[in-house]
Amino acid sequence: MARYAHIIGWGKAIPRRVMTNDDWAKLVDTSDEWIRSRTGVRERHFVSDGESTLTLALEAARNALEVARLSPAYLDLIIVATVTPEYQFPATACLLQDRLGASRAAAFDLSAGCSGFIYGVSLASDAIRAGSYQYALVIGAETLSRIMDWQDRTTCVLFGDGAGAVVLAASQVPGGIMSYMLGADGSGADYLIMPGGGSRHPTTHETVEQRMHYIKMNGREVFKFATRAMDRATRLVCERANVPLEHVELVVPHQANDRIIQAAAKSLGLMDSAFYVNLDRYGNTSAASIPIALCEVLEKGLVRRHDHVVLVGFGAGLTWGALLLQWETPFPAVTLKWWQRLYNAVYYRWAQLRSWLARLRRRVEGWQTRENGNGDTARKRAASSRREAATPLSDRPGAREEESKHSENAPSTAGGHSLPSGETAAQAQDAAHQGS
Ligand code: ACO
Repeated sequence: MARYAHIIGWGKAIPRRVMTNDDWAKLVDTSDEWIRSRTGVRERHFVSDGESTLTLALEAARNALEVARLSPAYLDLIIVATVTPEYQFPATACLLQDRLGASRAAAFDLSAGCSGFIYGVSLASDAIRAGSYQYALVIGAETLSRIMDWQDRTTCVLFGDGAGAVVLAASQVPGGIMSYMLGADGSGADYLIMPGGGSRHPTTHETVEQRMHYIKMNGREVFKFATRAMDRATRLVCERANVPLEHVELVVPHQANDRIIQAAAKSLGLMDSAFYVNLDRYGNTSAASIPIALCEVLEKGLVRRHDHVVLVGFGAGLTWGALLLQWETPFPAVTLKWWQRLYNAVYYRWAQLRSWLARLRRRVEGWQTRENGNGDTARKRAASSRREAATPLSDRPGAREEESKHSENAPSTAGGHSLPSGETAAQAQDAAHQGS
């Protein structure tokens, strides 16, 4: 039976701190008039101390799960699209998985610039449609204020911080994500880049002095590429879904520049009003811009059942992408019941406690190993496994059940990867040592 991937939850997180164009005019040589007429941005939101990409992603994710009426325990997959991760590694998605208490979810970050959210939803939707997963959480989250050059007027006035999230679910109801396209052209990588801090230019005094850990952008080239990419990507997803362009009720574009959106509308022959625009309030929030806009569209009730909606974006890479969805999700009752709120609060507390206990367990295990740093532990373990090996299998508790399970599933697997048993691992290690 055919499976479809539908968006069943949506949420956003916008930091409180507002920075207006006039605020920028006090810091760099610019003006409200220049910024508004060239970009359409009036103000943007920036994180404050103590906030980060993870805190924004967490808030957006919780809101999306609330709308979906889904416990994080059911999530199979978490993708965080971002160019401003919490750390270079581990992935922000893993930190989020822990904070949400999504204990059975796989989690990874995705770097595709402002197209990251489209990339993430497309991959998650494929995994759902293929039957691999039931529920996926895709988030676009950014704190661009942390990587933009506050002295470079050609870039700093463009960006903002924020996060948007959606929950995708498998369903047999036709609709949801109907088609997508993803594109990349690394020959344009230099047009939009943060050159410092990677393996090419690891952070040194010099790279910092040369301000290489900030966004560098060739605005004019990105502009030209963006208008072409939006047009082609939108046409292609309509073609693939067999939906004529004029049957698209709404386009939710990446919120980079009003003029880019207007140019795309013109070349597609669509009314400006078919494009949802909120960049005047948030600026360009990169991977977060499309999910924030989508969230607003849904909150405002601008999408009705059976509507066709195109999400389209472009960004660093260079990358671009679009997807067409047919909206079939009923809108949930607005507020949660008191006991649902209580359940959520208890669940997130429990997730924190469980994370704390897991850290504690690792610390205790670490202490035990260190205390026996003279080799006792290794000897004791070896002796105990020898004792265990000497005990006939049939005499071990639960051995028969174990044995039959193993013969059914051999080799033993976890998460799809072959995991050797304790004895096999030890033998393999011995063999490797003897071999070397
Ligand atoms: N205030 C006043 N003057 C400015 C400012 C400013 N903030 N910034 C640039 N200028 C000046 C320039 O110095 C230039 O002056 P000059 O003619 O004396 O040299 C003049 O304005 C015109 O500069 P342009 O770069 O030609 O301005 P343009 O009209 O192209 O607008 C802009 C620049 C807004 C950046 C535009 O090119 C743009 O939006 N490009 C796309 C950017 C984008 O979409 N990025 C998305 C990807 S983000 C991601 O993936 C993380």
